[in-house]
Amino acid sequence: MAQLVMSAREPADLELLTEGDQAVREAALNLLSLGFLVEADDTERPTVPPTPWREWGNLAWQFHTSIRNAPFVRGDEEKIPEYFKRLAERGDKPPNSKPHADDEEIVYLPRIWVDMDITFKSVLEKRRTHRSFNDEPVGLDDFSTLLHYTFGPLRFIESGSMGVLQLRASASGGARHEAEAYVVIFNVAGLQPGVYRYDAIRHGLAPVGAEVPRATIERLIHEQTIATGAAFCVFTTAVASRMAWKYPHPRAYKILLQNVGHLSQVFSMTAAALGLGAALTGAFRDDEVEELCKLDQVDEFPTFFMACGVPVLQDDGMPIRYTAPRRPSKQ
Ligand SMILES: Cc1cc2nc3c(=O)[nH]c(=O)nc-3n(C[C@H](O)[C@H](O)[C@H](O)COP(=O)(O)O)c2cc1C
Repeated sequence: MAQLVMSAREPADLELLTEGDQAVREAALNLLSLGFLVEADDTERPTVPPTPWREWGNLAWQFHTSIRNAPFVRGDEEKIPEYFKRLAERGDKPPNSKPHADDEEIVYLPRIWVDMDITFKSVLEKRRTHRSFNDEPVGLDDFSTLLHYTFGPLRFIESGSMGVLQLRASASGGARHEAEAYVVIFNVAGLQPGVYRYDAIRHGLAPVGAEVPRATIERLIHEQTIATGAAFCVFTTAVASRMAWKYPHPRAYKILLQNVGHLSQVFSMTAAALGLGAALTGAFRDDEVEELCKLDQVDEFPTFFMACGVPVLQDDGMPIRYTAPRRPSKQ
């Protein structure tokens, strides 16, 4: 059968496959229609896969195609006993937040939420990526407010078999809020520089490592210079098992990445509302970030990076590195 697929020169040859080989035939025809297979004498058709798969490669294409049309279960326990049976077989629900040892130390942060007296319209218009910071300290209450509104639960919700879930300012597919935050402090008033895990439930910083120079963080983010001058940085991670327990389909990985996008938008907009600036990147050295954050579970991995500080602005309030277009251009 494989021999026949290999030697098929045109779609009609695939008809010779026996009925038992229908899946192979359909797969081959799909590949043909997507442009990954071409007929032997078709010189008009491109011999490389269509963009973007040509650039992103087989791995991305395979992920993209295999997560399409994933089944979705609506949360009614009686109607979908099979799903809940399998959920039970998956074992205990992973906790909603990282557990901590009884003797773990923590720096409690103030629960003073700074007023953000700025209109929502202004926040929308003011949020920009700021890649230059002026090395001024960020105030403790501003810092605390930013972590609280980005990573902290604002409410909890009773969810039947799913237990009690966190609700944060950002939406989260499945509401399992798998995102955790590791904060690298350089210049926040009243806090010792170092690496910490933000404990969202206790609203405090659990020490993870000693002070690191900004150059170390710059290395981790491929010297993009966005940590230079930042008052603090955050590496987000995902404790993926928290989400996989509820959503065992590989499509959940896509949702997980979308979740961190929501979170980082709240971070950037809250920073803007507080008169701070934020920069983001997904380009970092994963292994070294894992070492910095002392991640020791295979189900937890870094997902994003945010730098924050007092931004260097132009006279009109735009980031110092921003240039407005001065010539006509086509879209
Ligand atoms: C998912 C994501 C990844 C990004 N990665 C980088 C990055 O690696 N380096 C960088 O300088 N900016 C990065 N940015 C910021 C974008 O370059 C920036 O949002 C874009 O230039 C538009 O500018 P604005 O944020 O001021 O609207 C990223 C933004 C997002 C949402």
